[in-house]
Amino acid sequence: MLPLPNCKELMKELMKELTPRLAAPVPTTSNMLPTSMLMLSGSASGYVVGSAGLPAPSVARAGAVSMMADRPYLIAGNWKMNTVLSEAKELAKEVADAAAKSADNTGVAVCVPFPFLTAVGDILGDKVALGAQDCYYEDSGAYTAAVSTSMLKSVGTTYVLAGHSERRATFGDTDADINKKVLKILGEGMKCILCIGELKEERESGETFNVCDTQLTEGLKGVSAEMMKDIVIAYEPVWAIGTGLTATPEVAQETHAYIRSWFKENYDEKVADAVIIQYGGSVNDKNVDELMGCADIDGALVGGASLKGDSFSAIINFKQ
Ligand code: PGA
Repeated sequence: MLPLPNCKELMKELMKELTPRLAAPVPTTSNMLPTSMLMLSGSASGYVVGSAGLPAPSVARAGAVSMMADRPYLIAGNWKMNTVLSEAKELAKEVADAAAKSADNTGVAVCVPFPFLTAVGDILGDKVALGAQDCYYEDSGAYTAAVSTSMLKSVGTTYVLAGHSERRATFGDTDADINKKVLKILGEGMKCILCIGELKEERESGETFNVCDTQLTEGLKGVSAEMMKDIVIAYEPVWAIGTGLTATPEVAQETHAYIRSWFKENYDEKVADAVIIQYGGSVNDKNVDELMGCADIDGALVGGASLKGDSFSAIINFKQ
């Protein structure tokens, strides 16, 4: 990553410079906004307390300027197809211990392989939410190997991922499938982490915002502003997943700001201010502080580094 100053320090400077402009109406065509204004577009209206089951933000974000919404963070581990039962239980214990020391404004979840949900859930304790990595959208019946949302709910699952790029690429999940899953997860009374993000070619051809727009528009069809309290967005540029290539805080922040502006345009300012937008893609204990310092990054979805107790512990307890 480029050695960049803390994004929130940059925000402070920008706020100083642009404060007189804040009285002016904010343009609504977010795609047209320069990055500096995009970063300012989510602002003062009410934060929904307990959004997506997260703790209320009792600690103001370091360096946060008063105009910024003060959202809690959510750090979620995605174990993918890793661990056997004994390893899963060991890791769960390490996560529970690490989370016991985490800041009050930081929620923690782990999305574990289906066979280990119950065993891991028994170990996680109160501070860590149990998550699943996918689901099927039918209620029940002849769907060999599929896992329903009622099954997940019945073993204590709180979060379910939908639209992870590996499900899209390897298992052929379309935006329409993902939308059915999103609605089913919410209908079951659980919370959904909707994953979106562009491929390397799409980033290189300047399509990033269009890809996010399409995946949000299609993935969230039928999701009302009221239902948005149970949605978390994970922005995961596909080129950064499992590659060791992390988006710089600047690049990540720019896209997060776009996503927040998308919610302002397609829902309202309250939803835009409250929605948790996680960053995912090679997050580790070295880069987490800078990423979490960015104004519109509200947590992380962590793959590889969530499989090691010590690195996930450091990520949960990032510097604020
Ligand atoms: P990574 O995976 O942290 O290993 O890049 C992130 C994810 O796929 O959610």
